[in-house]
Amino acid sequence: MLKGKVALVTGGSRGIGAAIARQLASMGANVAVIYAGNQQAAEEVCSQCREFGVESRAYRCNVADFGETKDTVAAVKADFGTVHILVNNAGITRDGLIPMMKEDAFDAVLDTNLKGAFNMIRHCAGLFLRNREGCIINISSVSGLMGNAGQCNYAASKAGLIGLTKSVAKELAPKGIRCNAIAPGFIRTDMTGTQEKNPLLAMIPLGTMGEAEDVAQAAAYLATAKYVTGEVLRVDGGIAM
Ligand code: NAI
Repeated sequence: MLKGKVALVTGGSRGIGAAIARQLASMGANVAVIYAGNQQAAEEVCSQCREFGVESRAYRCNVADFGETKDTVAAVKADFGTVHILVNNAGITRDGLIPMMKEDAFDAVLDTNLKGAFNMIRHCAGLFLRNREGCIINISSVSGLMGNAGQCNYAASKAGLIGLTKSVAKELAPKGIRCNAIAPGFIRTDMTGTQEKNPLLAMIPLGTMGEAEDVAQAAAYLATAKYVTGEVLRVDGGIAM
């Protein structure tokens, strides 16, 4: 279904990003896996992608860095020719209550989660415009929809991603470029490793945490849903209903 397409997935070395990389590869896309530090994990995801008969390579890049993202997109273009699908998945948390939150905890989360997505979109936009097609998927969060005590930085970054998504969707729709967001709820990954006893879990109508593959399924849909743009697709067991 995505044969011949090139997908770039940030934070692709583990968790939700790795599941999305494998999912898009299973649909025939060649996959550029962007990782922050763990090369071995990224290479492992690439070899899992190659098992589907596609090309896959890993690139080290801090998405918060404008220059590094520019160079990385250029390197992906040199290796794969272009980019058709961009998945902005890289994200961090630095939780804390507002009276105690350090300035650098706020800045780091906004720089990675929100500016990181802007950086990647900014540098891929020229390729999308040239191709007269493009698909951007931003991984937001139910925290961005509902807010969450102790996560003012994270929720602000994820709400900001929704504004970014809708603005990019409106601006680039006439050029054949779609932009959507996914808002996952509680997904079992390294990020939520210590959340198994979080009281919010009792509020999930479907009763359990989700898996990374549940989010990857939504990404597969958005990658192929040619009449859908500006949408925020919740994958949350109903918690933000
Ligand atoms: P994770 O912590 O397992 O993976 C995050 C990935 O982002 C890692 O590969 C990490 O190396 C990468 N990353 C972090 N900072 C980076 C940077 N500056 N440059 C490049 N890569 C960087 O987390 P998980 O759970 O897989 O989350 C993936 C995305 O889904 C994140 O954006 C997260 O906010 C979002 N999300 C996760 C939820 C969950 O319950 N796990 C719920 C809602 C949203």
